[in-house]
Amino acid sequence: MRARLESDFHRLAGRWCRMWRLLSLSALVCLLMACGMSNDRVAPVKYLVGVSQANLSEPWRIAMCDEIKSAAALNGEMRVLFTDATDSPLKQIADVNALLEYGVDLIILSPSDAEALTPVVKAAYARVPVIILDRAVEGYDYTLYIGPDNQSIGRRAGNYVSKLLGEKGGSVLLVNGLKGSPPTVSREAGFREVIDKNPGVRVIDTLQADWLRDRAEEELGKRIKRYGKIDVIVAQNDDMAFGASLALARAGRTGIPIIGVDGLPGPRGGLDLVASGVLDATFTCPTGGIEAVGFASDILKKRDGIPKKVILRTQTVTRHDLQTDALRGPVPVKRANGRSDHKIVLGFAQVGSESDWRLANTRSITKAAAYAGIELHFVDGQQDQDIQKAAIRRFIEERVDVIAFSPRVESGWEEVLNEAKAAGIPVILTDRSVDIKDDSLWVTFMGGDFLEEGRRAARWLLEHSPGDRPVDIVELQGTVDSAPAIDRGLGFREVLARNKRFSIIDGRVGDFTFQGGKDAMRSLLAVHGTAIKMVFSQNDDMALGAIEAIESAGLVPGVDISIVSIDAVKKAFEAMIAGKLACSIECTPLLGPLLMKAVQDYMDGKELPARIITSEGVFPASSAANEIQRRQY
Ligand code: AHR
Repeated sequence: MRARLESDFHRLAGRWCRMWRLLSLSALVCLLMACGMSNDRVAPVKYLVGVSQANLSEPWRIAMCDEIKSAAALNGEMRVLFTDATDSPLKQIADVNALLEYGVDLIILSPSDAEALTPVVKAAYARVPVIILDRAVEGYDYTLYIGPDNQSIGRRAGNYVSKLLGEKGGSVLLVNGLKGSPPTVSREAGFREVIDKNPGVRVIDTLQADWLRDRAEEELGKRIKRYGKIDVIVAQNDDMAFGASLALARAGRTGIPIIGVDGLPGPRGGLDLVASGVLDATFTCPTGGIEAVGFASDILKKRDGIPKKVILRTQTVTRHDLQTDALRGPVPVKRANGRSDHKIVLGFAQVGSESDWRLANTRSITKAAAYAGIELHFVDGQQDQDIQKAAIRRFIEERVDVIAFSPRVESGWEEVLNEAKAAGIPVILTDRSVDIKDDSLWVTFMGGDFLEEGRRAARWLLEHSPGDRPVDIVELQGTVDSAPAIDRGLGFREVLARNKRFSIIDGRVGDFTFQGGKDAMRSLLAVHGTAIKMVFSQNDDMALGAIEAIESAGLVPGVDISIVSIDAVKKAFEAMIAGKLACSIECTPLLGPLLMKAVQDYMDGKELPARIITSEGVFPASSAANEIQRRQY
């Protein structure tokens, strides 16, 4: 056995060396030997995955590569080829091309500069699946994005500092990453969003230390004499936080609390620094390496239900957390009802059955539960928040393993979700999110990006309305206070504001139903008549109702009034083929498989991401005849 492994090792090693010479990829840093070869199990190479890393000088990026390496070794079917762009976008573009030339089956890329890398990612995506880690490139020409929520990391830091300094406030020194880089900007924005509410908190200076420990130490060392009292130092990563602590020690100014970001394990990692008291706290910023390998395997095996974006969860880590169990993730098989040998029981509280979308969503969940062997306790909330709350309470009484629900409206869930938390039952949000500060009340959210759907509808309108005449738009709105109604409306307005020709002259609530849309449109026509040139309908069912109202008013939908809506259900495609609807923006209801996977992962003790955002398209009428055959709902 050993001899065979050794011969495999030499055969593969020889193959790589030949390849290296052949391609003269002097820029390519091949860590293949470290990946899998040290494992005593060498499986046949099924897939070759190329990893293009922005640099290998930051501990966080080294940790990301280590995670990819170990996860791929565990997976057994992948071999991974790493490249180090040494923070040069030009080098990274060359690296991606070299990986493609080499014939990788999939690329995992963490960009040094998202904007500069966008064209090469687009070109690569035309040839192989591409997973983007950490910083999103522009547009949607990639398979999947996995990254942290930097704004939320910043907010957490802000809340921590606010609590630490109290109402009296104090002076804060910021130690930032690379100027203008997305995590630098978003973390600072999140931080300021919180501390700006506390007038006593003052930022006395912002040092730019480019994510590097030495730079932080040097910059703070140079200026420390200038500063009076510093009440807290907020560094955008743990390495810079450590550098700051060294500068403080050298200047003899100890006792100033320092907080960082990353929370990496290992010597001098954030966790170690918190445990030893060098840092007061850190906020974890998962690298996404493990998740990338998991999804890479699903993508290469052409499994269904690959999301478009996965946003990873952040945790606050203090010394107290490290000494207690506070950071322990989900525990496998310790089920709420005390049994581990039974089927997983999932309680699901649906919004209602207001639209074709919702019916498809219910079918998807029911079918996926049966397929996964999960016992589903399903309640139809009949568009009533109280019925949904009562259902959640019943699930708690029944001691189901997991509760999932699609909240009808965003607010008013704290009490019941606290009850679920107290009972130790995890809650998963599907489709619609909640507006709750305490994000420990739910384990993950999965669904579409409503804000982006609204933006897409507006973009489509702007791009397909030639001429220079003013365009008056009416809006058919979904359920008041529901996440899709709020966010689609916001996204639509955000993009529309870029062009003064377009204005929303009026709107009515149609509650996401066919009849609601019909009544709303009838009322709008009665007020505005033929002044209405366009309709933005927040879902297809309301658009279909509006079509009937327009026809009853003796007007021709698609000629007198153009309609854009959201969902992309089959009936919308029929309306597009009939020339009555101009475009439908997709919002997929097929969340069942994703939900069951999350439930199973949770029960297996795996950590779930904070958000799983589905992949969605834009379907103009011109695509309808072809697309309708492929529609599953
Ligand atoms: O929450 C998703 C929305 O709810 C769908 O767009 C709409 O059709 C449904 O009722």
